[in-house]
Amino acid sequence: MTEQVQIFDTTLRDGEQSPGATMHVEEKLVIARQLEKLGVDVIEAGFAAASDGDADAVARVAGAVRRPIVLSLSRTKRSDIERAVRSVEKAQKPGIHVFIATSDVHLKSKLMMSREEVVDAACWAVEFARQHLDYVEFSAEDASRSDRDYLTHVFGQVIKAGAKTLNVPDTTGYAMPSEFGDLIRYLVENTEGGGEVRWSAHCHNDLGMAVANSLAAVRNGARQIECTVNGIGERAGNTSLEEVVMALKTRSDLYPGIEVGVNTEQIYPSSRLLSQITGIAIPINKPIVGANAFAHEAGIHQDGVLKDKSTYEIMRPESVGVQSNRLVLGKHSGRHAFIERLKELGVDIAEVDVSRSFTRFKSLADRKKNIYDEDLLALIAEESVRTPDRYELVDLSVHHQAGEQPAATVRLRVNGEEKSESANGDGMVDACFKAISTLVGTSPKLERYQVNSITEESEAQGEALCLLSDGEFQVNGQGIHTDVIMASALAYVNALNKLDYRHKHQRPVPVEGP
Ligand code: KIV
Ligand code: ZN
Repeated sequence: MTEQVQIFDTTLRDGEQSPGATMHVEEKLVIARQLEKLGVDVIEAGFAAASDGDADAVARVAGAVRRPIVLSLSRTKRSDIERAVRSVEKAQKPGIHVFIATSDVHLKSKLMMSREEVVDAACWAVEFARQHLDYVEFSAEDASRSDRDYLTHVFGQVIKAGAKTLNVPDTTGYAMPSEFGDLIRYLVENTEGGGEVRWSAHCHNDLGMAVANSLAAVRNGARQIECTVNGIGERAGNTSLEEVVMALKTRSDLYPGIEVGVNTEQIYPSSRLLSQITGIAIPINKPIVGANAFAHEAGIHQDGVLKDKSTYEIMRPESVGVQSNRLVLGKHSGRHAFIERLKELGVDIAEVDVSRSFTRFKSLADRKKNIYDEDLLALIAEESVRTPDRYELVDLSVHHQAGEQPAATVRLRVNGEEKSESANGDGMVDACFKAISTLVGTSPKLERYQVNSITEESEAQGEALCLLSDGEFQVNGQGIHTDVIMASALAYVNALNKLDYRHKHQRPVPVEGP
């Protein structure tokens, strides 16, 4: 007999809580469609009560995907639940995720509620939500640090109130795998009605245990894992979707009868797309999707892999969408070859403006001899999230001579009107950023700046990432170009657009009460 482990993706909710990971609604839609292609079972599209922008994003995602359940997070408050319910109205499969904390430290210091008040609030919220929706998940925030017997009591009561999925969060990333697995088993066996519901694990990675804890949960009865693409999320992040899925698939011998419905060949494209949209780099040694994940450096390893791949390879790169045949197209490649390669990479041609993308491909091929899969995925990702932004970089020229201060002249379109400005700086990038800041009339703090190459050769495209903060919000910007100064300016402008968006659409509602 087989049993499905449901993949609950919270990239758009918990993932977005990652510092600087703000996405605007069009970007969220692109991610949601990619998650559907990836085959996740549930998409947590946001926290509708958090801001008007969040509510709108949940509603748009709900209307944009068909197969996955789409839900919104909600506190146990009537107004939150009503907003969450409204936001998923258009979903083919709507749901809601209600949560309240259950650990004594949260009850005492954050909620200022007694244990029985929390039980009442949880039951009331689940019952109220069930009057509107069939699919109700309940989470006991900080479950791993809650008293076990109290937890079984809370869970037993919310099952009676109508919750169908019970989520056990390791909110602070404190648990160890054997302990977390044991907790899940205890809850399954000791909660009244625990045999009739789906148990779920939601792990944070503060001690690097999120994936291990999620796997331990599955071995002990959990049949849903909550995770994010690239493991992004609050602080050290959440369970990484690609790692947990590939662990279940690669070591299926340890999880007999367990099935996961993810289309693994969409893992790498999903990972790249998210990184490009959020501006959060993928560490080179990150399992599954890092640049070095399938690279064999040591001679003895290379020798072994050439003789027989299974000497050192436990997964085929192609199985997660990383093509081992890397060299693809160039200046002389035609439209047909371009389209065929996109199809091989799992890109849905119906969703792409082929003429426009092909023109951009040709212009890239004029600047760069070899176009690799990574370049193509980056180009398609850029196209898919093209939205009218407030600031648009039109042109850039830089000048630097030994002994002189570097200078930059930048032309920017601001609300459709072109403006130009020059500035000097400590380096060419600094000069560009100063000119741009003067043009937009704001100079947020540059918290982090880095440039990576998308592929390995010296003519590779540079991917610039920057983290800006203006005291109220923190945002990441990303830009790709064969010229790294241009990539940096694009990243800076991208971050400024995100700041502008946050100020307009994502001012959070004040957080009060449970
Ligand atoms: O980490 C956590 O406890 C959460 C809950 C809201 C599920 O994200
Ligand atoms: Zn969380």
